Amino acid sequence: MRTMRELRGLSAAVTGGARGIGAAIARELVRAGARVAIGDLDRETAERTAAAAGAGAIGLDLDVTSTESFRSFLDAAERAHGSLDVLVNNAGVMWVGPFEEEPEAAALRQFEVNMHGTARGMRLVLPRMLERGSGHVVNVASMASKVTPAGEATYAASKHAVYGYSAAVRAEIEGRGVEISVVMPAVVETELARGTSHGRARRLEPDDVANAVLDALRRPRFEVYVPAGLAALSRLYAASPPRLRDALARALVPNQVRLSNRGERAEYERRALAASADPDGTGRSAR
Ligand SMILES: NC(=O)c1ccc[n+]([C@@H]2O[C@H](COP(=O)([O-])OP(=O)(O)OC[C@H]3O[C@@H](n4cnc5c(N)ncnc54)[C@H](O)[C@@H]3O)[C@@H](O)[C@H]2O)c1
Repeated sequence: MRTMRELRGLSAAVTGGARGIGAAIARELVRAGARVAIGDLDRETAERTAAAAGAGAIGLDLDVTSTESFRSFLDAAERAHGSLDVLVNNAGVMWVGPFEEEPEAAALRQFEVNMHGTARGMRLVLPRMLERGSGHVVNVASMASKVTPAGEATYAASKHAVYGYSAAVRAEIEGRGVEISVVMPAVVETELARGTSHGRARRLEPDDVANAVLDALRRPRFEVYVPAGLAALSRLYAASPPRLRDALARALVPNQVRLSNRGERAEYERRALAASADPDGTGRSAR
């Protein structure tokens, strides 16, 4: 059996860590003795979350859609903590509704944050880790990396892309001492999921995902399902012939066109899918 990796003393950076799943991951990392940099578009909340997480946590500005901003965030984390052992690419946004009603700006934003934000983080941090021959990148994807809920067409496409990108990069760097994990949670109680249906499954808490992330850091593996039982279901789904797959999807994957409450989601989507506060780093606001 492989020994568990010690998290005490590690330096970690968590994107989109001001609230929701990222905040829970940051809190649990601090509790395990890691030093954590929380980066978020909402710096004030990131600072409050860091202060509440305890000693060794700092809150910083980050827009994952800007290479300059991402590089400054990673540099600041490294300066504050002396190294960077773990990057958790967690920042993400979601629009829900019939595909033909999705504003193009919302579709582009989801790919920009979810897919390109994750790829950008990997391009910036992996060369530093590969040079040292150690480190771990954890990408928070989604069960929508494996299934395709009605009403989440672009979101699911962006999360499929995160899975594909992560798998391909992993194949490139195999055997060089650096780990990549893709975390795939079902529906979690956060602002992003407000007004959506969790179907027959239990609605998870952010701590459920945080615990799975810490477990993957201690015992590295590529695919991490939350809850863990979804692994078997996902493999059955992937191996099924098309008609059985459709029947499984109808029974198990909530149809968000029919079941989500778009009124309840309006405020989240207005805030989360607006363009970046400072898209080109010039200080001009796009909001
Ligand atoms: N909530 C769910 O049901 C669920 C399920 C599976 C996967 N996920 C994934 O988990 C991750 C976290 O989502 P959450 O549910 O905690 O959402 P959330 O909305 O509660 O938190 C997301 C955080 O990311 C930040 N963020 C958004 N765009 C950013 C950007 N450009 N740069 C930096 N920070 C940015 C937001 O300010 C916010 O603090 C996302 O990748 C999401 O897709 C969520």
